[in-house]
Order: sequence, then C-alpha cells, then structure tokens
Amino acid sequence: TRTPLVAGNWKMNGRLDMVGALGASLSGLRNSRAEVAVCPPFPYLAPLVRALGDSGVQIGAQNVSRHQDGAFTGEVSAEMLADLGCRYVIVGHSERRALYGEDDELVGEKFLRAQQGGLIPILCVGETLREREAGETEQVVVRQVSSVLDVAGIGAFDQAVVAYEPVWAIGTGETATPEQAQEVHARLRAALAAEDASVASRIRLLYGGSVKSDNAALLFAQPDIDGGLIGGASLSADEFSAICLAA
Ligand code: 13P
Repeated sequence: TRTPLVAGNWKMNGRLDMVGALGASLSGLRNSRAEVAVCPPFPYLAPLVRALGDSGVQIGAQNVSRHQDGAFTGEVSAEMLADLGCRYVIVGHSERRALYGEDDELVGEKFLRAQQGGLIPILCVGETLREREAGETEQVVVRQVSSVLDVAGIGAFDQAVVAYEPVWAIGTGETATPEQAQEVHARLRAALAAEDASVASRIRLLYGGSVKSDNAALLFAQPDIDGGLIGGASLSADEFSAICLAA
C-alpha cells in the first residue's frame, strides 16, 4: 500500500509571515496518514525548513536548474536545494511548460539532475482543454511520462512522484471529476507497469487542479490517486490542513 502524499505548491505567492503561520498549524498534522510537503518560492525555503522543525512536514522546491554548479546566473542547483533540507522538487509544471518554454527534453534533464542531486522529482503531466476535446488526453500524458522514461529508465521512477494536472483544471475552479482523474491515473500506472509492474505499483500518482477541502476526499478515494498537488488552496493553512487530513 502506498503512503499518500499531499504537496502544496505556493507558486509565486506568499510572504515571510505565511511561513510562521503555516509552521504553527502544520505541526498539527503529525497524525495525518499522508506525507505532507510544502513547496514555497526559493527565498522561503530556508525559513520554512526552520519553521517546520521536526513536524515531519517535508519541503520541496518549485524548480531546479538542468545544470550542476557553475556560471549559470540566476539558477539554483539540485545540490543546493538538498543542502537546505529539501526532499522534493516539482519538474515540468504546466506553467513552466507554457510560460517558460520547458519542453519534454528539458523536463527530462531536470528530472535526472534532481535525482542526481539527491531530490525526489514530482513530475507534472497534463493535457490542455483543446487536447482533451480532441480526445488526445491519454496520448499527451503518456508521451510526457515516456519522454522521461526514455532518458531516466523505469528504475528512476522508484525515486519519483508523478502528478497528473489537467491544464484546464489548474486555477480555474473546475476540478476533474474523480472518475475523469482515475481514468488518466490508471492509464499512467499501466504505462509504467508495461516497463516494470512493481515500480508501477509503488509509485505515487498525485492529482492536481482545483483541489479543495470539499472535493479532496472523493478524489483521494480513487484507487490510483495517491494524494494531491495543491495550488491556491495550499495558501490557507486551515484549508491545506483539511486537504491533508482527507488523504
Ligand atoms: P490549483 O490548485 O490552484 O488549481 O493549482 C494546481 C497546481 O497547479 C498545483 O501545482
């Protein structure tokens, strides 16, 4: 059985005072069945590590460089993130694919660099509304996962998480139904199982896209949904805690 993971992605939101507030309320999650992670903007990683102390809540970053150390002004390496105490890093988020031109090749490089630097990548995949309406959902998400499988190999997915985030559900208030999400999750797990059944049975597949405390439980109850990647609702400590407790 898989331990669920609920990860909050603050995106480019929050201020330093949120770090303390979150630290105080998340320590109440010690008894949650799910593993909990918070992914704030880079400047808040170190203060959050301190604020969370021994709460058991994990820290993740939202992005990582494809390079190791060197002359790459403005970039942050996996080693630096691991050094700070990060466990996870989000790679391939649809906002980075759409707004920063990240393609499958770059996402694959970042996935590998993250693991080599000691982090667990949370690989995001998901179709646009146009792709869903064209009946291309499964083809798109399987292509996005396969491009990383091709460079990293199935063994690497034992130290990875995959998040299915339909682009049309992100920040729109329009959540995939539990059945829609389960269908894609089952397809993703089958694609991984075609390479290695035991890796596929162990990997956590998260759902992301307008998850709220009032729809989380039904989504998380689906057999192939192992938690969530939470955007807007992770900015409220109470709302995020309720979602974590629903897993
Ligand atoms: P929302 O929960 O705000 O829809 O964002 C989802 C997301 O993109 C998490 O990475």
